[in-house]
Order: sequence, then C-alpha cells, then structure tokens
Amino acid sequence: MNSVNQNASAAQRGATLNRNQCLVEMRDINKAFGGVQAVENVNINLYPGEVVAVLGHNGAGKSTLMKMLAGAYPIDSGEVIINGEKASIRTPSDAQAAGIESIYQTLALADNLNSVANLFLGRELLTRWRTLDDHRMDAEASKVFQRLNKNFKNYHTPVRRLSGGQRQVVAISRAIYFNAQILIMDEPTAALGPEETAMVARLIEQLKEEGVGIFLISHDMHDVFALSDRLAVMKNGKLVGTYSTKDVTEDEVLGMIILGKKPEGKPETERPAR
Ligand SMILES: Nc1ncnc2c1ncn2[C@@H]1O[C@H](COP(=O)(O)OP(=O)(O)O)[C@@H](O)[C@H]1O
Ligand SMILES: [Mg+2]
Repeated sequence: MNSVNQNASAAQRGATLNRNQCLVEMRDINKAFGGVQAVENVNINLYPGEVVAVLGHNGAGKSTLMKMLAGAYPIDSGEVIINGEKASIRTPSDAQAAGIESIYQTLALADNLNSVANLFLGRELLTRWRTLDDHRMDAEASKVFQRLNKNFKNYHTPVRRLSGGQRQVVAISRAIYFNAQILIMDEPTAALGPEETAMVARLIEQLKEEGVGIFLISHDMHDVFALSDRLAVMKNGKLVGTYSTKDVTEDEVLGMIILGKKPEGKPETERPAR
C-alpha cells in the first residue's frame, strides 16, 4: 500500500467525497459471551464527516459493538456494510484494509518500542531490497507527529516513557497516516489533561472536514455535546435510540443511559441532518 500518495489526497478526498453515501451500516448485530448477550440486535449507521457518540453505562455493550467493527471479535449474526457493500471483517487486518482504525482508551502501543516503530508496527515501510526503510519511516513519522503536535519530538524514546498526551499522538497518528475512513475512538480523552483533550477535539474537527466518520465512545457529556453530530445510547446490549445531538438535552440523554427511556416527542434519526 502506498500510504504516502494516499495521504497527499486526504484533503482532496474530503472535497470530492459523497457525504450522502453511508460509510458504515451495522445491521441487526448480535454477540454473546457465554450466557451474556453483550450486543443484541443493534443497528447503527455512520456517514462521512460525522461523529456518532456511542453512550451507555459500563457493560452496555459499546466496546463489544465497536470491537466487532474493528475485527477484534467475530460477529455472531448481523451484517456490516461499508460504502454500500457487504463487508466481511474477521480480523483487525480486514478492518484496516476497509479503512477502519481504532484508538482505545488503553492505547494499545508496544511500550518498549519508540514512536516511529509504533506508528508503523506491522505495516513497516521497506526499501526495494525489502529491508526496513528507517530513513523514510522517520521522515514520514515526523510529518504526521508534527501535524498533530508541534512540540512532539521524542521520536526515539520508548513510548512507555511518554506522557498520556504524547501516547495519544502516536495512537492517533496511526489512524491518520494509514488514512482511516472510519475511526473508532473508545474514551480517547479519558487519560488526558485539559490541553491534550483540547488537542484531540481539534483533531476530530479536522478529520471531520476531511470526511472521516468517527464513532466516539465517551462518558464525558461535555465532549459528547461539543463533538458529536448524533448520539446512540445502549443499555444492556440493546440500542435505546439514536438522535441528533442538537435535538436532545443532557437530561434526556441521562434518562436514556440510566433508565433506557426514550425522550418524548424527539425524532430518532439514522442519518445526519444536512
Ligand atoms: N471478552 C469478553 N468475555 C466475556 N464477556 C465479555 C467480554 N467483553 C465484554 N463482555 C461482557 O459483555 C458485556 C458488554 O461489555 P462491553 O462491551 O465491554 O461494555 P461497555 O464497553 O459498554 O462498558 C458486559 O456484560 C461484559 O462483561
Ligand atoms: Mg467499554
């Protein structure tokens, strides 16, 4: 895959892409772990350039739903449709090939490796003699890290010695460098300070402009209302409802999360209002 050329066209792609073509449709998705129905008949859509917040108490099924999209867990039943075509996502590499990248709260980084090695982990750039192209990886990594955070310079430090915000830069860089079309962010700001949280918020805005669709799992109501276009609430594995963020109040959202109660007189929506 020639990511360098693909990267050059990210902004272009944002300008030309059809924002009415659904990026992801997850239909009637089910997943059980032993006797626990972790996800039950869930339907959810994502369009280019929108953020859909996925909300619910611990154990509601949010991470399981997203891990199925990311190829980390097999789906028991249901369909995933990407850009109008039925997709078969069985492994994380299937998901990556479909343009899906995930950033987890736990930031799955290889602690002993440096930032550059983490950026390219499993997808290293090679020279034409099939050896590691360290020079080009350094140069490419520097471009993407600088784009996220001008102060980020510790390319050759093992990531275990980096701060939460710096680790987040590395995790997000992977999604950007490999041109995610679909980004899953599971509690991306949970471990971050205010400045780093603001950086992630700016980045989300930028990715939206480029047409990236983002599923954002968050407990932070401020983030949810500031960043999402729509929100989907789950409870006990089931979807309570999906609404335009601007149509609902924080109390109504809490009512859905806590009681599983749909807000009265508010229209549910399967696509962004445009
Ligand atoms: N790997 C797993 N093995 C067994 N049960 C799991 C596993 N992952 C999640 N579960 C169960 O599935 C349900 C949904 O969990 P999860 O998707 O992590 O919820 P959330 O992300 O909303 O907190 C919970 O009851 C949880 O205990
Ligand atoms: Mg979770």
